[in-house]
Amino acid sequence: MDGKVYVVGNFKGGVGKTKAVTMLAYEAATQFKDRTLVIDLDPQGNATRVLAKTGNIDNIDKSITDGFRVGNLENEVISIMPKLDLIPANTSFRNLTKVLFEKFPEDEISQISYLKELIKPLKGKYDRIYIDVPPTISDYSDNAMMAADYCIIVLQTQELSLDGAQTYIAYMQFLSEKYNAHLQVLGIIPMMLRQGGRVDTKVLDQAKEMYGNNVLGTIVNYQERLKVYDVEGIHVNRNISGTIEMWDGKAHQLFIDVLTELDEHERYLESI
Ligand SMILES: Nc1ncnc2c1ncn2[C@@H]1O[C@H](COP(=O)(O)OP(=O)(O)O)[C@@H](O)[C@H]1O
Ligand SMILES: [Mg+2]
Repeated sequence: MDGKVYVVGNFKGGVGKTKAVTMLAYEAATQFKDRTLVIDLDPQGNATRVLAKTGNIDNIDKSITDGFRVGNLENEVISIMPKLDLIPANTSFRNLTKVLFEKFPEDEISQISYLKELIKPLKGKYDRIYIDVPPTISDYSDNAMMAADYCIIVLQTQELSLDGAQTYIAYMQFLSEKYNAHLQVLGIIPMMLRQGGRVDTKVLDQAKEMYGNNVLGTIVNYQERLKVYDVEGIHVNRNISGTIEMWDGKAHQLFIDVLTELDEHERYLESI
């Protein structure tokens, strides 16, 4: 069976999109033993840097930019660890619009459906494909939304409004209607990124009122260890006795819980 394609979205930067993509992919591969691919669609390459460190990879000679130019992503896949692969991005990908325009002049639907075409031969090789996008309404987000089966929304609970998440969902519905995109909201992950901050229950209640059970019960709170993974790569250290170091255990358990809940949502959506 073909793997499912997930995009993690919010039209705001710094809300934890890349964190969610890299951690969910890591848990999917290591805990659930699913064949997992991360596609970095952000020219900033944050997911690429974190995962390269995770796999102790110093030199990356592939990129999604080449794949888009040539029209084949299969040669741009690098292996991070068993069951976890990556299609890396770097700043050369900033010219996506130009590439798309040259390939498909005046054909908007082909421009935004290009990733969907390029992903097709990869879907049989993976159980899950996660796409990391920049926080803009752009050719990047359009291509990701057209290619995805599901979108996972990151909601920053300490914002006074649901802004970026709301705009993202509205835009997703617009794309679905206009271009017949098929993606559904899989779940909304509440993220609380400020250290020591309380969950803004008002925002969370508001989100639950609007989106009901789509809002996950698991709240991703601020954990210093999750930040450390940006610098050191994602890891699980063990004490001398062989038990998992406490803060690694907490960080990973959080995303195992998120992934478990998202899978429950998926089973429900596939059953109706
Ligand atoms: N739960 C968390 N605890 C601590 N730091 C976090 C957490 N989630 C994200 N961060 C940090 O917040 C910053 C922004 O996260 P990131 O995933 O890069 O956001 P985005 O991709 O939405 O721009 C990064 O430095 C990241 O390490
Ligand atoms: Mg990011």
